[in-house]
Amino acid sequence: MTYGKIVYKMWQPSKMILTAGPKIGKNDIRYVSDAVKNGWNLHHSDYIYKFEEAFAKYVNAKYTLSMPHGTSALHIALVCMGVGRGDEVIVPDLTYVTCANVVHQLGAIPILVDIDRETWSIDTSRLEKYITKKTKVIMPVHLYGNIADMDGIAQIAKKHHLHILEDACEGLGSTLHGKQVGSLSDAAAFSFQGAKLLSIGEGGMLVTKHKGWIERARSIVDNGISFTRQFWHNEIGYMYAMSNIQAALGLSRLEDIDDLIARKRRINRWYRERLGGIKGIQFSPERKGVVSSFWMNTIVLDTDFGITRDELRIKMSEMKIDTRPFFFPISEFCFYNKQPINNPVSYHVSHNGINLPSGVMLTERMVDYIASVIRKLLLK
Ligand SMILES: Cc1ncc(COP(=O)(O)O)c(C=O)c1O
Repeated sequence: MTYGKIVYKMWQPSKMILTAGPKIGKNDIRYVSDAVKNGWNLHHSDYIYKFEEAFAKYVNAKYTLSMPHGTSALHIALVCMGVGRGDEVIVPDLTYVTCANVVHQLGAIPILVDIDRETWSIDTSRLEKYITKKTKVIMPVHLYGNIADMDGIAQIAKKHHLHILEDACEGLGSTLHGKQVGSLSDAAAFSFQGAKLLSIGEGGMLVTKHKGWIERARSIVDNGISFTRQFWHNEIGYMYAMSNIQAALGLSRLEDIDDLIARKRRINRWYRERLGGIKGIQFSPERKGVVSSFWMNTIVLDTDFGITRDELRIKMSEMKIDTRPFFFPISEFCFYNKQPINNPVSYHVSHNGINLPSGVMLTERMVDYIASVIRKLLLK
């Protein structure tokens, strides 16, 4: 290998350092075992209710409803907002494809707007020109723990009488002006998929401040069930449920959330100390008013370092460092590129962005090693 003395002399990992990974302790095993042993018959939803209640308290939401995925939470929120055939929903171009899919699946049209460099979400300065008579919802996404420009979006939404649906799937624990993501709009969706900050394997949560929406949501996630007449269905719904066993893990993980965030922020500080000074890369942003959970630590290569993003990822992988590329812009997929698109920021950030190992169990020694490899490869 040609990575030079420093890397050679350093501690070397014996196996791949992964981008994510959970922290599982005694309390998790205790709660899950209890749900497995006792969570049946009259107790089949005990942990679900406890998790929903604790989550509402944590994100300061009025109402919560557990879901099998973050995607289902986005889907049901759009249904509650009345989105249907021919409506338009504004979505940032650079996000997980599910954001557009849930819109499309309702017969509506995702309108893909460029992101800005400070928030990595909808560029508010370009937002208004995409609003038409058909626009119903703006869906800001809190990508990698960053927070969208919720103040700007709220102003525009108010002016045009639009709903806001926060995609907070990657944003749990981040705050704007001291307020938790998920409490900054009409409704929000969270994900508890295996790589997320609060990981239970798969799972999600819908949160909202609207009583009418949550009442409708509770029914449509159970095939449109009636709450007054057993096995009667008021409308055609969906079957979306979180299991009590998953909720048990969700509750115990939530009780550990302060430690999870502290770990993420410490990892970010370690990276920042080692990589923050490299000219020509953008490090995970944290603008004024935001306290990020830094779900992922990210770098965007803005300069020609003589190595492409993909070559860098391959070399890092050879050095036992797992990385993730950013999402592709949704408009790059053939099934969504019907409209003429000019979203240069989304394309640049997508094609030059890398998520670095950010699992909560990462140690300073690992970050030391990762940062040295990156420095060697970029600054050789
Ligand atoms: C930005 C974003 N939105 C939505 C989702 C959907 O969450 P889930 O995988 O739980 O359906 C994810 C998760 O992968 C995501 O990263």
